[in-house]
Amino acid sequence: MDSINRKRGHIKSALDQEHSASCFDSIRLKHRSLPNISLHQIVLDTPFFEKPTNAPFFVSSMTGGPSESERINRHLAEACNELQIAMGVGSQRVSIQDGEAHGLNWSVRHAIGDLPLFANFGAVNLPHLKVVQELGRILDPIEADALILHLNPMQEVFQPNGDTDWREIIGHISKVCEWSPVPVVVKEVGFGLDVHSSKELISAGVKILDVAGTGGTRFADIEIELNKDISEILSTNDVFDNWGYTTTECLINIRRELPASTCWASGGIRNGLDIAKSMCLGASAAGIAGRLLQPATESTDAVLRVMRQFISELRITCFGLGVAAVRELNTKHILDDTRLD
Ligand SMILES: Cc1cc2nc3c(=O)[nH]c(=O)nc-3n(C[C@H](O)[C@H](O)[C@H](O)COP(=O)(O)O)c2cc1C
Repeated sequence: MDSINRKRGHIKSALDQEHSASCFDSIRLKHRSLPNISLHQIVLDTPFFEKPTNAPFFVSSMTGGPSESERINRHLAEACNELQIAMGVGSQRVSIQDGEAHGLNWSVRHAIGDLPLFANFGAVNLPHLKVVQELGRILDPIEADALILHLNPMQEVFQPNGDTDWREIIGHISKVCEWSPVPVVVKEVGFGLDVHSSKELISAGVKILDVAGTGGTRFADIEIELNKDISEILSTNDVFDNWGYTTTECLINIRRELPASTCWASGGIRNGLDIAKSMCLGASAAGIAGRLLQPATESTDAVLRVMRQFISELRITCFGLGVAAVRELNTKHILDDTRLD
C-alpha cells in the first residue's frame, strides 16, 4: 500500500474507532455553590506564541490522502478563523518528498487568516533531509507560527516498511531547534510522552511538549488493521492494546518532574470539561484530533458546532468552579488532589 492510500486508510479507520472509558472520568473538580462570577464574563482568551486566540484549545495535526486532506483542513481552518482558534496541520512530509503540498500550503493560511498555525513533520524522517534548511519548504508556504515534530515509534513499528531506526533522532531534533526560525513543539501521536524523553527534548531546545496520550485515537490499531502481513510479527492483534501512558498520567508525571516546562494536553480530549481538567493538571492548552475528524469530513458548519460546544462546556466548567478566567485553572480545583502527589 502506498503512503497516500495508507493515509486514506487512517481516516477511515479512525472514524470507525469506538472509545471506551476515559482517563478524565476519574478526575473530579470542586463544585462551588456560590460562584461569585457571571457566566458570560468568563475569560477564555489564550495566546499561542504571543498571538491571541479565543480559547485554550487547538486542532491537533491530521493528515490524509490528497483530496481528503485538503477538504478536511479547509473545513477546520475556516471554523478556526470564525471562532479565532489555533490549528496544527497534518504531516507535510510529502511536500518535502515530492513537492506536492496536497492543500497544506498558502490555502490553509488564507483560510485561517492571521491565527496561530503550526507546521508538522515526523521526527524519524529528519535524517532523510539533505540539510535542515529543507524544513523551510513546509514552514514558509503556511507562514507557520511553530514547527511540530511528531514522535510515532509505536505507529511505525506496525507498518510494512515503517521507520524503525530511531538511533540519534534526538540529535536531529536538537539541530532543528538550533536552526528553526519558529519555536519547536514535540508531540506524540497517542501513546503518551514519557518523562525520560521529555527531559531529553527540553535539553535539546524543544519549547513545548504535547503529550498526546492514550485514550483517544489508537494508531497501533489503525496500522494493524491496514497491515495484511501483521500475523508475521504478532500472535494476536491485541498484544499491545494497553501500551503507553494515558493523557492524565503524562500530565501528572511531567508536572511533577519538569514543573517549569510548558505542556499541551492531547489524546482523547472529548469535550470542554476534559480541556478544563487537563488545564487543572498543568496543561496550558489542549489539542483535539479524533473528535473533530467526523465533522471535518462533513463541513465547516459541522466543525463550528462541535467547537462551540467545547467553548460553552469550558465556560460552564469555569462557572461551576467559580473561576473568572480559564488561565487560573490549577490543581487546587481538583477534588482530592492528594492522588496527584
Ligand atoms: C486521521 C488522523 C491523522 C493524523 N495525522 C497526524 C499527522 O499527520 N501528524 C501528527 O503529528 N499527528 C497526526 N495524528 C495524531 C493526532 O494529532 C493526535 O495526536 C492523536 O490522534 C491523539 O489525539 P485524539 O485522541 O484527539 O485523536 C492524526 C490523527 C488522526 C485521527
